[in-house]
Amino acid sequence: MAGRLAGRPADYFCIGLYSVVQQSTSQTQAIMKHFLLSCTYLLLCAIVTPVSAGIRREAEALLSWKASLAGANESLSSWSLANSTGICHWMYISCNSARSTIVNLNISGASLNGTLDKFNFSAFPNLKKLILFQNGLYGNIPEGISNLTSLVQLQISSNWYVTGTIPRGIGRLKQLTELQLGGLGLDGAALPEEIGNLTSLTKIALYSINLTGSIPLTFGRLKKLRLLNLRNNSLTGHIPLEIGNMTELHRMDLTQNYLHGQIPDTVSRLVKLNRLLLSENQLGGDVIHELGNSSMLSYINMAKNSFSGVFPPSICAGGALVTVLAAYNGFTSLRSMTFQNCTTLEHIDFTENKIVADLMACFGKPPEQLRGLTVSNNHLYGTLLTDDGEVFLCNSTRLSLLDLSNNALNGDLSNSKCLWNMRHLEFMDLSSNSLSGVVPFLATPNRNLQSLHLANNHFSGAFPLVLKKSKKLITLDLGGNNFSGGIPSWISKSLPDLRFLLLSSNMFDGIIPSQILQFRQLQLLDLSKNKFTGRIPSNFGNFTGMIQEQKNGNSTYCYLPAEQLRIVLKNEGYLYNFTISFIVGMDLSSNFLSQEIPKGLTSLVGLRYLNLSRNHLSGGIPGDVGNLALLESLDLSENQLSGEIPPSLADLKALGTLNLSTNGLSGRIPTGSQLQTFPDPSIYSNNPGLCGFPLQDCVNPSASNQNDMKQDEDMETLWLYCFVVAGVIFGFWLYWGMLFCKETWRHVFYQYVDNMQDKVITKKIAAYRASKLRHE
Ligand SMILES: *[C@@H]1O[C@H](CO)[C@@H](O)[C@H](O)[C@H]1NC(C)=O
Ligand SMILES: *[C@@H]1O[C@H](CO)[C@@H](O)[C@H](O)[C@H]1NC(C)=O
Ligand SMILES: *[C@@H]1O[C@H](CO)[C@@H](O)[C@H](O)[C@H]1NC(C)=O
Ligand SMILES: *[C@@H]1O[C@H](CO)[C@@H](O)[C@H](O)[C@H]1NC(C)=O
Ligand SMILES: *[C@@H]1O[C@H](CO)[C@@H](O)[C@H](O)[C@H]1NC(C)=O
Ligand SMILES: *[C@@H]1O[C@H](CO)[C@@H](O)[C@H](O)[C@H]1NC(C)=O
Ligand SMILES: *[C@@H]1O[C@H](CO)[C@@H](O)[C@H](O)[C@H]1NC(C)=O
Ligand SMILES: *[C@@H]1O[C@H](CO)[C@@H](O)[C@H](O)[C@H]1NC(C)=O
Ligand SMILES: *[C@@H]1O[C@H](CO)[C@@H](O)[C@H](O)[C@H]1NC(C)=O
Ligand SMILES: *[C@@H]1O[C@H](CO)[C@@H](O)[C@H](O)[C@H]1NC(C)=O
Repeated sequence: MAGRLAGRPADYFCIGLYSVVQQSTSQTQAIMKHFLLSCTYLLLCAIVTPVSAGIRREAEALLSWKASLAGANESLSSWSLANSTGICHWMYISCNSARSTIVNLNISGASLNGTLDKFNFSAFPNLKKLILFQNGLYGNIPEGISNLTSLVQLQISSNWYVTGTIPRGIGRLKQLTELQLGGLGLDGAALPEEIGNLTSLTKIALYSINLTGSIPLTFGRLKKLRLLNLRNNSLTGHIPLEIGNMTELHRMDLTQNYLHGQIPDTVSRLVKLNRLLLSENQLGGDVIHELGNSSMLSYINMAKNSFSGVFPPSICAGGALVTVLAAYNGFTSLRSMTFQNCTTLEHIDFTENKIVADLMACFGKPPEQLRGLTVSNNHLYGTLLTDDGEVFLCNSTRLSLLDLSNNALNGDLSNSKCLWNMRHLEFMDLSSNSLSGVVPFLATPNRNLQSLHLANNHFSGAFPLVLKKSKKLITLDLGGNNFSGGIPSWISKSLPDLRFLLLSSNMFDGIIPSQILQFRQLQLLDLSKNKFTGRIPSNFGNFTGMIQEQKNGNSTYCYLPAEQLRIVLKNEGYLYNFTISFIVGMDLSSNFLSQEIPKGLTSLVGLRYLNLSRNHLSGGIPGDVGNLALLESLDLSENQLSGEIPPSLADLKALGTLNLSTNGLSGRIPTGSQLQTFPDPSIYSNNPGLCGFPLQDCVNPSASNQNDMKQDEDMETLWLYCFVVAGVIFGFWLYWGMLFCKETWRHVFYQYVDNMQDKVITKKIAAYRASKLRHE
């Protein structure tokens, strides 16, 4: 085996030289001629031969490990003794400069199918880097890995089938500076406290490996650590005080664990800390006020915890803060001037806390380079306006996201030019405050606006003309204000990307312009509770946003996570966020719309809810209503609809809410598995002509039906008598002549008379039984 390994060029040279020397012994001239050269070669051999034994052992170890694998991609085929270019040229391998030993083994994305069980770690005393990134490895990380005593960098990441634990022996890898085990399928292993022995470590990345237990106190000895990433595990317990000893730490990421307790005050000693990520834990209590002391700190994410009390007023003391994300906590207060010295701040998010504060006072003068302010769902109060009637945010001209929704802010924004003129603004949500005013006509159009929410305020005036140039608009929610006048006909042409249009609960009037059906993307149209008149426009051909099913996640729209839309379906108000991308619905209820439900409406097969209730619609329910296969909620109540309920209604398998009450519908309620799930008769109430489940059975003839039937019977009896008389006369003349000759005629005649008699008798019996039943 070892002999066959002598495939490197240097070995060939040595063997060649040896034979030259042998042949030359008899010829002194030749000896002399080659003496110098020979010496050089021999010297070379003396160096190469003994050290190649080490690399041979390493190559053998690699080959026997390779042999244990069930598979690997093509790239590992260079690992072969037949490859005369030498071990140091094998793929994934680097040798030292003397080519005497392997120092790096970096196998990434090689689809290794196998385990590390047959990997002879002790054959690699000089290995500095072992990188096994993104392969198909499974099985455990062997304890023998602790024999890689020269190892500086260990990375076994993205091998989702590697199981077991982190071997304790890892603490013997004294030279280790980088330890990266991420994306493994470990069995709820604890972090070995022996890692604290690895005092040379600068980088720990142990993310997504299902770690349990707490962070060992011994980590306090890792004084050279610059990066600590324990993201997405199941760690419990407190963040240890000792973490304050990691004075070189630049980045700490403990996101997505179950850590609880407070942030230890020793964190303020981490003067080089640049990024602190603690979101999605169970941390709580007050946040130490010295947190902002680090002059390097630029990014803090503490969202989705249970922090409370006053947010540290000196958070910007270090002077480098760019991002503060503190959403979904229980902070109760922001001191005035908290953000006064935050000249570098770009993103602030305090969504859904319990902050009671005067918004303007917290800022003083907001930072010029502010790009995102989200402070929705708090109890922020005060006006948005400065003394000169402008919005206090005017200097932050780079603002692209502004979310002040669900607070108690006030102010008449009619004269604020800057708010409507912010060129970079892409997302603005001012809904559910007490803001008022008219959106000014003279504002410069914002061409970047993608989402505008002004819902549930006291805004008034006409549909904002300023939106005419906002060609990128995707969401427009003006619901619950005092807007009036008509929907302008330019709307669909000017806003080609609009997907969500909510104008409900305003004073809009006039007809619904047919141009509204030119929206190709529109998937949510809520015009309810206005004063619209006329008919529902009917040419749905271009309404492609509703013609097809919208699936979750088929949107690249980056503000989707921030969208919140309040809609009514299944008789309940829902606040849709995150999930709205698949919602398709139309709500035209509570207006003064008249005439028929347009036939084409049933082509909108993407619809999940349709509410046309409380209008003056007449005519019938379209017969092919059953085409709306995704429909979950249908409300046609309080109109003047007539005719029968189309049987196809029973085909709506997804239907969970139905209301047809207060119309002029008649006939039998169709039967069908879906309709049998609506036992509440009130959804059909106030339709005098309806019968069948869950109303009265149709077999019970109503009073008017009975009259009709009686008339029919009387007519038939009369006809019978006429026939009898006619028969007598006719028979008298023809009996003897005709009937005896033509037997078939005779049969036909008697048959008819018999049938007529039977029919009358059966009907009489049925009517008798029914009246008897009624009286019982
Ligand atoms: C790994 O090898 C085993 C045995 O040959 C085989 O059953 C399995 O499908 C392979 N796995 C992959 C991911 O190729
Ligand atoms: C030998 O290894 C080199 C480097 O990995 C590779 O380019 C070459 O194709 C291999 N030759 C054979 C015969 O496998
Ligand atoms: C480390 O190497 C030594 C010597 O080769 C061997 O005896 C020992 O079993 C190895 N340790 C582990 C944990 O495999
Ligand atoms: C390594 O750490 C363990 C536990 O923290 C300790 O008991 C042991 O003495 C340490 N070993 C060395 C060589 O430092
Ligand atoms: C952390 O540092 C403190 C001094 O600040 C020291 O007393 C303590 O022993 C250190 N802890 C560890 C685990 O090294
Ligand atoms: C933090 O900074 C404040 C001044 O902003 C200073 O008074 C305090 O001593 C500092 N704390 C630490 C632990 O450095
Ligand atoms: C902001 O800076 C000024 C001047 O340095 C200082 O007086 C004030 O206390 C600082 N405010 C905050 C909240 O840190
Ligand atoms: C709408 O305006 C009318 C008068 O113009 C006023 O009475 C009403 O309170 C306003 N409604 C809202 C919600 O602001
Ligand atoms: C239809 O809209 C009205 C308000 O106009 C609302 O009361 C009703 O609950 C809605 N119907 C359904 C099924 O959501
Ligand atoms: C059906 O609609 C009517 C009128 O819109 C309403 O009063 C009633 O509460 C609704 N019934 C159900 C069960 O939703």
